[in-house]
Amino acid sequence: MMNEYRFQHRHLLEMGQFSVEDIRYILNTARSFKEIAGRPIKKVPTLRGKTIINFFFEPSTRTRLSFEIAAKRMSADTFNIAAATSSAQKGETLIDTARNLEAMSPDIIIIRHSSSGAPLLLSQNVNAAIINAGDGIHEHPSQGLLDLMTVREHKGRIEGLTVAIIGDIAHSRVAHSDIIGFTAMGAKVRVAGPASFMPPMIESLGATVCATAAEAVAGADVVMALRIQQERLHDPSIPSLREYASFYGVNRKLLELARRDVLVMHPGPINRGVEMSPDVADGTGSVILDQVANGVAIRMALLYLVMGGEKGGHE
Ligand code: CP
Repeated sequence: MMNEYRFQHRHLLEMGQFSVEDIRYILNTARSFKEIAGRPIKKVPTLRGKTIINFFFEPSTRTRLSFEIAAKRMSADTFNIAAATSSAQKGETLIDTARNLEAMSPDIIIIRHSSSGAPLLLSQNVNAAIINAGDGIHEHPSQGLLDLMTVREHKGRIEGLTVAIIGDIAHSRVAHSDIIGFTAMGAKVRVAGPASFMPPMIESLGATVCATAAEAVAGADVVMALRIQQERLHDPSIPSLREYASFYGVNRKLLELARRDVLVMHPGPINRGVEMSPDVADGTGSVILDQVANGVAIRMALLYLVMGGEKGGHE
């Protein structure tokens, strides 16, 4: 008898927790949710009665809003709490805050935090399902999944593709989730950036380190630029933004080295003219806004699955 697949993750903390089968299941579930965005009434009753808290200790536009839209489209009750207006400002610890949130019986807590491992800590101390919306330099798994969805949607596959990721690899949680996810799904991942932005362990995640952006981009199917994570730099790290842009900025000239049908990606927010030129961000091959649209679908799928959803049960 064939084994029926079941999604068995209570907390969503990092890309490495997912098997290839899990990733395919999440992407397929997200694809089935995506059409809801095109309906006149963008709402299904799937998570009616569920309480979801968005707990963001760092700024966010895309992730916070798309988790909220995802939850509301599935009829959950959502509440937002930001560090700046919470009692964290009065010295309350993360665990104490989380336990107090827990006392109000949420089903899911979505957390973004500057400390790597904060979502893991919460998952060990509260009963609600915990979803990592980006923790320090560690991971941003829902972004990794929406990037996989976007590439699969446009290319029809992930296996066998070459993905070039250019920029601040060391401080980018997106890079870490993407390298793990794309590699798991059979793509080759090349990375390039200044030495100060290249962590020594990056090849152990499956990426190939290239000496130049040109080497990384040559023949690539996908080129992703990353923002310099200024908020995580403790010293200048690079001589100047102008010099950085000349060596690692993704511009038309660099893209000529890639495949003609190259996809251009960026997790956002973009610093135009630094890691990517405006004509590339807005030009042919850019799927940056598709990434944002798929962010809602992926986050609907994740909320649905951590609540024990069964495929096809969201009509
Ligand atoms: N990609 C991403 O995490 O964007 P936000 O910081 O706006 O959420």
